[in-house]
This record gives sequence, C-alpha cells and structure tokens, in this order.
Amino acid sequence: MQTITCSAPGKIYLFGEHAVVYGESAICCAVDLRTQVRASLSDTIRISSVLGDTGLDHDRYPYVSSVIEKMSEMADIKGIKLRIDSDIPVGSGLGSSAAVTIATIQALNLLFGCGLGPEDIATLGHSIERRIQGAASPTDTYVSTMGGVVIVPVKKKLNIIDCGIVIGNTGKFSSTRQLVSNVALLKKNYPQIIDPILSTIGRISITGEELVIKQEYGSIGELMNINQGLLDAIGVSSPELADLIFAARSAGAYSAKITGAGGGGCMVALTQLPDVEKVASAITRAGGEAIITRITEHGVRVEH
Ligand code: PMV
Repeated sequence: MQTITCSAPGKIYLFGEHAVVYGESAICCAVDLRTQVRASLSDTIRISSVLGDTGLDHDRYPYVSSVIEKMSEMADIKGIKLRIDSDIPVGSGLGSSAAVTIATIQALNLLFGCGLGPEDIATLGHSIERRIQGAASPTDTYVSTMGGVVIVPVKKKLNIIDCGIVIGNTGKFSSTRQLVSNVALLKKNYPQIIDPILSTIGRISITGEELVIKQEYGSIGELMNINQGLLDAIGVSSPELADLIFAARSAGAYSAKITGAGGGGCMVALTQLPDVEKVASAITRAGGEAIITRITEHGVRVEH
C-alpha cells in the first residue's frame, strides 16, 4: 500500500460548552463536514493544501507537522507526501484542527502499520492539540475519532439525531483561549452567580441526554435556547452571533445557539428537515455564511 486517504469530521455542541471546562456535562456531535488527508510514501516530507506547499512547517501546519514528528517515534518515517482538503472552516469552533490531526494520525497509522486503535488515536490527537494550544479539552479529538453523538466527560455514545443542522459562520475570528479566560475571570469575581449558571448548563446536558435518546427535537431545541441564554449571561455571545441566532429562530428553526467558544465563530440551528433551506437563507441574509449539514456517525475513516 503506497497511498491512503483518511478523513475525519468536525463537530458542534448541542449543549455544554464552557461549563465542560469545569467538569460539567456536554453533548457534542460529529457533523458531516470533513477534512481529508491523502498520504503517499515518498523520500521527503511534503505537506500541501490551499495554505501552500512546504516541508515540515510548524508555523503553517502545526498539527500535521507535530503528528509526523510524534509518529516518527513509533515508525521509521523517512518521507511522506500529504495532501489536505477540508470542508471545515478554520478557527471557527467547528473542530478543524482536531479533524486534520485525527485524519493525519490514522493515515500514518495505517500506512506505517503503527497498530493504533481508536482510543489511542483520540488520546494522541488530544496530546498534540494540548501541546500546540496550551489547553484543549479532549472533546474535539474524541468526537472526530469516534463520530456520532457523545456525552462528555463520561464519553458515552448516544444515538444519532436525524434532523436538519444549519451552521452559521460569523466569519469573525474568536480565540477559545481568550473566551475561556474571560469566563474564568467572571467566575472568580462572582462565584455565587456564575457557578450556578455553569452547573445549570451541565444539568441541561444531563436532561438533554434523555431527549436525544427519545429524539424529541422540539424539547432538545427548547433546552438549546435556554443554554444560549446562559451563554449570553456568561458573556460569550456577540452582536453578529445574536443576529444569526435570531434570524434562524425567526425562520422556524427549533433552536439556535452558539457552538464552541463564542465571541465570533459559529452558531448552530436545529431544524425540521424540510426547513433547512429557509433557515440557511435567513442566516445568509443576516450576514452569515450558512452551511447545511447533518450529524454523522462516521468518525475517522478510510476513503476509497
Ligand atoms: O471553540 P471550540 O470548538 O474550541 O470549543 C471550545 C469549547 C470550550 O468549552 C469553550 C472550551 C473547551 O476546551 O472545552
């Protein structure tokens, strides 16, 4: 085998971002936006994508370069040619870095016979994300590896929910690290107010688990909207996100909330399947980039 192509998905949060940093529960779903990595044996190291063509390059390709270095400790990697293509907008809270990390690990794992199983891949991916980002929750890399709907921190897989998912990208950069530290400061200054908000968000996830199992989209949507109110209360919304959220709700979505760190980045709306186009148009008219997708059970996989 000289060439292999692997892909891994991005993710959205139904409930629980930020609270999960303090050990509360969150429900996260892999979505059908994927990053593909085609890996071919070669004499030298080459990495290419729309970002350019280079050798090992920790500035341009920090995740992929770190995967190659780390996996060189497990296998004799003399050279490798990697081509990366992605549907996932970069740096917008949809897990693009986890997806490229996990797809690259699996491609090298299979090409060089490293023998890593799914848990090993998720763990290695998390350690690479943590090293590059300073702090990273294991959620993104776990969901990208395993796919499906996952409740964390217990890492239990739930059933797929089969409704419309419309993502709205504000196109505004947001720094997860900055937003997590803003919430930490609020929590330090007003613990008696912020702590109950974070534990209520955790309870939303726990209540939501049962609703996901029963596929009760209307009620899941109600809880997502409540979760959004609490995210707003802890200061992670923005005017752009609010515009897209209210546009999606007005167009008939069950729910709309921030997904990920907030401050910019993306929101997500749950809809009935026939309503996805209507909700997507409303998000576009409100100034966002609309992405219609579905929840997927496919984590990292080989593409044929
Ligand atoms: O914006 P993202 O996709 O990196 O998600 C951040 C989620 C937080 O709960 C805010 C932080 C974390 O590490 O869990």
